[in-house]
Amino acid sequence: MQIRSAVFELSAPDLKSCPKSAFPEFAFIGRSNVGKSSMINMLTGQKDLAKVSATPGKTRMINFFLINNTWHLIDLPGYGYAKVGKRERADFSEAIASYMEERPNLRWVFILIDSRLTPQPIDLEFIKWTTDREIPFSLIFTKADKSKPNALKKSISTFMETIAEICPIAPAAFITSSKVREGRPEILGFIDSCLSNRIQIEDVTG
Ligand code: GTP
Ligand code: MG
Repeated sequence: MQIRSAVFELSAPDLKSCPKSAFPEFAFIGRSNVGKSSMINMLTGQKDLAKVSATPGKTRMINFFLINNTWHLIDLPGYGYAKVGKRERADFSEAIASYMEERPNLRWVFILIDSRLTPQPIDLEFIKWTTDREIPFSLIFTKADKSKPNALKKSISTFMETIAEICPIAPAAFITSSKVREGRPEILGFIDSCLSNRIQIEDVTG
């Protein structure tokens, strides 16, 4: 897919503020610092696009970017960790939860994972939450340039082995580096396939 245009459209604080639109939506989410802004800029080919939404106050927003006048790229707020009672658990906003569970336009979610790290409980919990709701998603391993090929391979296979217990069907995984622009054609090609219905998508809202 060629990116002919990519424009920031609006930031919505919650599901009910999301625009009424017929455009299909592809959402990106991950922990803070995973490389989400860099990924969005790489995919759209615009160096500072994601920074538009990074102004104070917008970081907890659901950000809409209109791509090629045909689909929305959605930049979801990052998830974090919260102490609940004696243990910590994945913490993400009501806005993320309701957007992912109820937004009829949502076609696919890309969950970004830092390829250098051992499986993080917070990411595993988020993947489980998404899987339990049968929301279609793929993984994007980021910052691949930071590891040697063998270490990268091992890290990713460890991650995929770990989530095998959570995910009955292994999700597709993209290996990427925004620094050296790795993974861009694969992700855009995948989105293109979804848009032209070459990939069967269930209605996530039921
Ligand atoms: P927040 O919005 O702060 O939560 O972070 P983010 O997930 O948007 O990450 P961002 O794109 O701002 O990147 C975080 C840091 O990682 C920055 O210093 C980036 O330069 C760096 N980074 C992101 N992607 C890559 C990559 O592919 N390779 C390398 N080497 N560094 C990267
Ligand atoms: Mg960011």
